[in-house]
Amino acid sequence: MTAATHTPRVFSGIKPSGGLTLGNYLGAIKRFVDMQGQDYETIYCVVDLHAITVWQDPAELKHATREVAAGFIASGIDPSKSILFNQASVPQHAELGWIFNCVARVGWMNRMTQFKDKAGKNAEKVSLGLYAYPSLMAADILLYHATHVPVGEDQKQHVELTRDIASKFNKDFKAEDFFPMCEPIIEGPATRVMNLRDGSKKMSKSGESDMERINMTDNAETIAKKFKKAKTDPEPLPESLDGLSERPEARNLVNIYAALSETSSEAVIAEFGGEGWGKFKPALADLAVEKLAPISTEMKRLMDDPAEIDRLLLKGSDRAKEIAEPILQKTYDIVGMIGPAA
Ligand code: TYM
Repeated sequence: MTAATHTPRVFSGIKPSGGLTLGNYLGAIKRFVDMQGQDYETIYCVVDLHAITVWQDPAELKHATREVAAGFIASGIDPSKSILFNQASVPQHAELGWIFNCVARVGWMNRMTQFKDKAGKNAEKVSLGLYAYPSLMAADILLYHATHVPVGEDQKQHVELTRDIASKFNKDFKAEDFFPMCEPIIEGPATRVMNLRDGSKKMSKSGESDMERINMTDNAETIAKKFKKAKTDPEPLPESLDGLSERPEARNLVNIYAALSETSSEAVIAEFGGEGWGKFKPALADLAVEKLAPISTEMKRLMDDPAEIDRLLLKGSDRAKEIAEPILQKTYDIVGMIGPAA
């Protein structure tokens, strides 16, 4: 079977390593919601095992796991339409991750740009988990024989590595197309939302200053203030998209506007070309508040009842296990382990 003949199935995940940002929302969650309504089975995961590849305070990790789950639901992921769960509740992820640690090559891991960025000069001191992380990510996806993986631009290399792992496994064990060749789905105007203070850096959960990102829990006043103070240049918006090529901060704000309003960056330029920041920034802030305030309000409401979130996650993990367990057992059998499937 190739990906085309495997059941169309979407898998994606978000790390609870802090609060959700506008980058997570536009680059991932909003697109997860769009895919939920199409002809796919959709599986979304709060990847807590990935989060601990760097230090997480245990109490904060629990809070962040629930908050990411609340963010999914508040944005429109319906736990009765999608399978929503946290990774640690489905131990098959770690089990398949181990098998893939024995399939993936050290040379492949050495080429992962995200590891290089995160480890920096400190590569000897980071956890072994951070290094092996892409192999666990491959397990997340392949444990469900997922065919489509919606992600932001920064995860592309990891999804490509997942294909390499699937292909080496299939070849080494003569398993034909047991693991499908999943496709990264990187679409829309906001596949890489940039830092509001420095257009050369990605907006991330862990950047130093809170002013560089929009958090999904920010209130209307904070969102307006952050966009008002966002770094730009003195020029008005150009009349065509080409005029943004050397203006990363301006391009970022136009892309954010396009993604929030569900149009294209071309359409935003057609509307605002020639206008100054005095007009564009307040319009962007109003739009962001209009779209994000209902989500943050709903997140707060959900977070008032953590036991209910835990219950929903547990239910999701039971459904996830039903798909994962037979695939894991078949994998063990292919590899030569004695077990229920032997
Ligand atoms: P994470 O938690 O860093 O990010 C979650 C998702 O949000 C996207 N994203 C962005 N998109 C646009 N602009 C940004 N500034 C931005 N920041 C983050 C990411 O691309 C991602 O889609 N390794 C993954 C989690 C993961 C996963 C998986 C994803 C684990 N297993 C299996 C897909 C399939 C990660 O760290 O994402």
